[in-house]
Amino acid sequence: MRDDGRPLARVRPIPAASVHESVACVECHQDLATIVDFPHPEKLAKVDCAACHDDEVKKYAGSVHATARREGSQYAASCVDCHGMHDIKASSDPQSPTHHLQLAATCAKCHGDPEVIAKGGIPEDVTKNFADSIHGKALSRSGLVVAPTCSDCHGSHDILKHGDPKGSVGPGHVPATCGKCHEGIARQFGTGVHGAALAKGESNAPSCQICHTAHAIQRTDKSEWQLSAIRQCGTCHAARIATFRDTFHGQVTALGSRAVAGCADCHGAHEIRPASDPLSPVSPGRLVATCGKCHANASASFVRYDPHANKHDRARNPALYFASKFMTGLLFTVFAFFGVHTSLWFAKEFRDRRGTGAPKAGGAK
Ligand code: HEC
Ligand code: HEC
Ligand code: HEC
Ligand code: HEC
Ligand code: HEC
Ligand code: HEC
Ligand code: HEC
Ligand code: HEC
Ligand code: HEC
Ligand code: HEC
Repeated sequence: MRDDGRPLARVRPIPAASVHESVACVECHQDLATIVDFPHPEKLAKVDCAACHDDEVKKYAGSVHATARREGSQYAASCVDCHGMHDIKASSDPQSPTHHLQLAATCAKCHGDPEVIAKGGIPEDVTKNFADSIHGKALSRSGLVVAPTCSDCHGSHDILKHGDPKGSVGPGHVPATCGKCHEGIARQFGTGVHGAALAKGESNAPSCQICHTAHAIQRTDKSEWQLSAIRQCGTCHAARIATFRDTFHGQVTALGSRAVAGCADCHGAHEIRPASDPLSPVSPGRLVATCGKCHANASASFVRYDPHANKHDRARNPALYFASKFMTGLLFTVFAFFGVHTSLWFAKEFRDRRGTGAPKAGGAK
């Protein structure tokens, strides 16, 4: 009790479950040590965790959250927002807000809150997509601690903005970030044209999230997803998807069926190589085997069929080119003939009608 009889306000012991149970109040609230006039002021100085956790504080100082705080944001995450205040627990404790299976909900307190998103300058709500993704469900439903939560891709203390080249999700770093777990795929990807182009710093080559998205990642064996992957290849390879769509495979996939070949069935998905590379599944030496995955009796003559036949390219597909020109010519001639025929017929009909109608009009002639 204080001198004036009121209870000592706010003094609550650090809960026994906290990692800081043995840390004295003044070790965190260092200003308390310098206060000689009790009761101490209601407003205590901000706690500096660096006295004991220098490494985390230094990493945090360079993060998007700390930068935003320094620039005056009241919404960006501080130590307390992620860890709690007096009840901080080790991340290995299933009750801790930073436990692997709890963390997505901790980030979602802000990243899923429309008010914080609007006022705090967060680009978009990624938390709903993440919760519905294969990774999100692996955490929330399957309880898989090996499935990624936010910090596996973004880090926890050194989180940077998404376009930042130094960040774990910055251009060029995504394959390695996903590859922490999908090691086999990251290795294959690195040997393909897309991975090699990314490694050289080419920003127009696709990284994992271009084809899979970052937060809405789905199983890849669903036909819906595979059909969307074809469209995704086409966003960069516009000429190739156009010729593909002219073929049997392209038309059937455009109608929504996955029963025939899509881009990845012929080219592979991750280890894509130029057709001139003997390791490419579409290189001349491997075509019979590639088409043979589905066409059991594929032969050297069968694979002469051109999966990207272009009727406008005379040098590449002369037969198709002339056939197409012939068909266009035929179509034109037929339309022209019937067009002229119809207009002459119309003119004759018109004259005939006028001829019969004239006397009724008064018979002036
Ligand atoms: C591990 C460090 C740590 C220890 C130990 C600690 N505190 Fe705190 N305390 C904090 C933090 C962090 C805040 C939030 C404000 C801030 O960020 O500075 C806080 C806030 C407070 C406040 C402000 C009112 C409020 O609830 O927002 C009071 C009062 C307080 N602490 C009292 C105590 C007392 C009494 C003890 C000892 C029983 C104690 N604290 C021990 C870290 C600590
Ligand atoms: C955006 C959320 C977030 C913020 C902000 C944050 N942390 Fe953490 N912290 C985590 C997560 C998640 C972990 C769990 C281990 C990991 O992923 O690094 C963690 C782990 C820790 C650990 C334990 C390290 C270990 O290896 O077990 C300490 C100590 C810590 N944080 C201190 C701090 C301090 C001090 C601050 C403020 C400067 C802070 N954290 C800010 C999310 C955060
Ligand atoms: C006076 C020193 C001191 C201060 C100040 C301090 N801590 Fe700690 N903290 C400790 C000690 C000691 C441990 C280790 C407890 C253990 O290993 O059981 C610890 C453990 C932790 C852990 C758990 C690490 C793990 O093993 O997962 C986190 C998280 C943490 N502190 C966060 C903070 C935050 C956030 C602040 C500032 C608000 C802070 N601490 C301030 C001494 C301090
Ligand atoms: C599997 C890896 C992965 C996980 C898990 C993940 N992210 Fe991301 N996140 C990314 C990648 C990659 C980008 C960059 C997207 C880009 O630049 O195209 C990103 C971008 C972001 C962005 C900024 C850009 C945007 O798209 O709005 C925010 C905010 C974000 N993530 C928050 C989170 C939160 C919160 C969680 C947990 C609920 C989370 N992320 C989980 C990989 C991940
Ligand atoms: C207390 C609220 C809060 C919490 C908790 C929080 N964040 Fe943030 N976060 C913000 C705000 C606000 C920004 C926008 C900062 C800015 O750019 O001004 C931000 C920015 C980000 C960005 C950069 C977005 C971009 O523009 O590319 C990422 C990535 C991010 N947070 C990830 C996380 C992750 C992962 C967690 C959990 C480990 C988390 N945040 C927890 C408030 C929070
Ligand atoms: C150019 C588009 C593209 C890029 C870039 C890409 N993927 Fe894929 N990914 C696919 C396609 C298409 C499939 C489906 C493969 C199939 O059905 O044969 C797939 C399948 C997968 C699978 C499921 C395994 C399987 O083959 O069924 C995982 C896991 C995966 N990708 C992870 C990654 C990772 C990690 C990266 C980055 C290193 C990445 N992907 C980059 C298109 C891509
Ligand atoms: C921390 C480890 C980890 C990281 C990092 C990670 N993943 Fe995964 N991923 C998994 C696990 C585990 C599964 C299987 C989940 C399940 O089946 O329930 C999975 C599943 C997938 C699938 C579905 C595979 C299928 O069978 O169809 C794809 C696609 C995928 N991840 C892509 C990515 C991409 C892209 C990234 C980076 C942006 C990434 N992952 C980062 C662990 C990870
Ligand atoms: C974000 C744009 C983008 C997407 C999406 C994309 N690619 Fe590519 N692709 C490129 C670029 C850029 C190159 C050239 C790389 C280099 O040679 O430097 C390339 C090269 C290729 C090559 C080798 C051709 C050559 O000229 O070397 C093939 C084959 C290929 N891609 C097929 C695919 C397939 C199949 C998909 C879908 C599964 C796909 N691409 C998705 C951008 C993309
Ligand atoms: C039925 C198998 C098959 C399908 C399906 C297919 N391709 Fe091809 N693709 C080939 C063959 C064979 C070649 C090599 C001959 C050539 O250059 O046309 C090739 C060549 C390419 C090249 C040029 C490679 C180089 O080294 O110059 C690109 C790029 C390409 N395809 C992209 C795609 C895209 C994007 C799709 C889906 C929209 C797709 N392909 C669908 C078989 C296929
Ligand atoms: C993922 C399986 C798959 C792959 C790989 C594939 N196709 Fe097909 N293709 C089909 C299916 C299914 C049909 C429709 C059924 C049929 O006619 O056999 C079809 C139809 C065709 C047709 C038109 C119908 C016909 O039989 O005359 C041609 C031509 C064709 N494929 C050529 C090829 C060539 C050449 C390759 C290799 C460059 C190839 N396909 C690779 C699945 C595939």
